[in-house]
Amino acid sequence: MQQIVHIAPLRQAIATHKRAGHRIVFVPTMGNLHAGHVRLVEEARLHGNIVVCSIFVNPLQFGPTEDLDAYPRTLAADVEKLAAARCDLLFTPSVAEIYPQGLAAQTIVSVPGISRRHCGASRPGHFDGVATIVTKLFNMVQPDAALFGLKDYQQLQVIRHLVADLCMPIELVGIPTQREPSGLALSSRNGYLSAEEKARAPVLHQCLQEAGARLRQGADMASVETVAAQTLAEAGFVPDYFSVCQADTLEPAQAHDRHLVILAAAWLGKTRLIDNLQLELPSA
Ligand code: PAF
Repeated sequence: MQQIVHIAPLRQAIATHKRAGHRIVFVPTMGNLHAGHVRLVEEARLHGNIVVCSIFVNPLQFGPTEDLDAYPRTLAADVEKLAAARCDLLFTPSVAEIYPQGLAAQTIVSVPGISRRHCGASRPGHFDGVATIVTKLFNMVQPDAALFGLKDYQQLQVIRHLVADLCMPIELVGIPTQREPSGLALSSRNGYLSAEEKARAPVLHQCLQEAGARLRQGADMASVETVAAQTLAEAGFVPDYFSVCQADTLEPAQAHDRHLVILAAAWLGKTRLIDNLQLELPSA
């Protein structure tokens, strides 16, 4: 696996692969890799012949009170995992390489509407930071396809809008969430949970499953959301949102909508967990 830290040699390496007719598949990450990331890299191999990963903890997507400094940086272990997963090229730029004029002077890419709901409402500016870094990385790596985990469902929908609106010729692939046997979605932030919190954390996934089952049985959406928020509160979470949404726009679902996603975010102690459930209701 080749490791590159500067943009110029990255462009040269990509150009060489493109001249050879290779299809470039890209997995952007912030590092601290777990089995969910490894699965993305393995899956990437099925979508092209050169697998490029990036590790960059993007300061632009963290709010002023968020965990940028505490975010785990585990480069040596990540490099081993990526090499074992047969990544071909790893891009690990510095903040100065990506934002040479500083964050305040950076052009911002902002996807309207969908970026402002759910996590966007709780974390103002977060999706502008994601859209900006993903645009920059796409311009550097010039991938034919890019893979993202479906755990960050709203993030992938924001990126789908971005790619369509800016006419980027990139195929986007969403990969199902990897889970612990308890049902807890794998996440770098699980490392912040105490043992006692970790034992309670699967309740988030259970609430989503129960909500999905109730919707399939015909329960109305508002009552499903209310019951789930109560269950989470009783289990010691502080719910942020639990919303039944139309799966593409992430607008609140209407009774006639069949193609749904339930998005959930809740605090457990100092850790904010997110998860979701995609759901197709039978035609009425
Ligand atoms: O999902 C992530 O790890 C990040 O938001 C991403 C897409 C790599 C952008 O920094």
